Amino acid sequence: MEVIIQQNSQQLSVIAAKIIRDAIRAKPDLVLGLATGSTPIGLYKLLVQMHQEKDLDFSRVVTFNLDEYIGIPQDHPQSYHTFMAKHFFDHVNIPKKNQFIPQNIVDNHVVFCQEYEDSIRSSGGIDIQVLGIGKDGHIGFNEPGSSFASRTRMATLSKSTLEANAVHFKDDINAVPEMAITMGIGTIMEAKQCLLLASGSAKKDAIAKTIEGPIGAMVPASALQMHPKTVFLIDEAAASGLSEIDYYKRAYNNKIKYIQPE
Ligand code: F6R
Repeated sequence: MEVIIQQNSQQLSVIAAKIIRDAIRAKPDLVLGLATGSTPIGLYKLLVQMHQEKDLDFSRVVTFNLDEYIGIPQDHPQSYHTFMAKHFFDHVNIPKKNQFIPQNIVDNHVVFCQEYEDSIRSSGGIDIQVLGIGKDGHIGFNEPGSSFASRTRMATLSKSTLEANAVHFKDDINAVPEMAITMGIGTIMEAKQCLLLASGSAKKDAIAKTIEGPIGAMVPASALQMHPKTVFLIDEAAASGLSEIDYYKRAYNNKIKYIQPE
């Protein structure tokens, strides 16, 4: 587990974008797991910029999104299909056939979820999974109480998540879809590397519990303590509930100095 603390979210996006850029250069057919929400927008902006200015080639990259709401059309302004097109897919050269996002309907969801898992597996597995975190500690839409062995499935959003996401639905909590299809925690844990980004004081409790608290289903992201290669990229505000801030900063400085110069 690596904890990188930076002043602000822009610096987090820069580090995450460089990790992904280097990974694509080393493996052009990289399999990327993607998140939506406010957190990764800066990261997508930088990747788009790298594509446009520095010829970062996504033509062989394969992507799997973590989740999608059930019950709103794919072209709804708040669907994750729309989000991904707007912030990323419309601006880079990832072939459509390589872009996987969960379906937005209930029909055949069991079959769909199994096929989603099969597609991840047959693509060789996710190399880098980008994650945000909910105030309640969720990753994907794996809410507190989700099994660490869970796989892609239909799940119900917690009250905390409905409240947090209402801002995208004109502050009308009743307009937020109550269900989603989400990769499971077991699915996420199989990614070779996870990059979890978090910024802002609203995430401070979730981050403290995730990184330093006991591992348990009530804090879904705490499963990442058992992941062999997770990088937590957090800003000062999100880090402010951690007790070992000084240690994480020293460890990162030493890494840059002695182990992996930037
Ligand atoms: C989105 C997702 C969610 C978000 C989380 C944080 O695909 O999987 O877990 O990452 O709800 O959302 P923001 O970034 O909007 O605070």
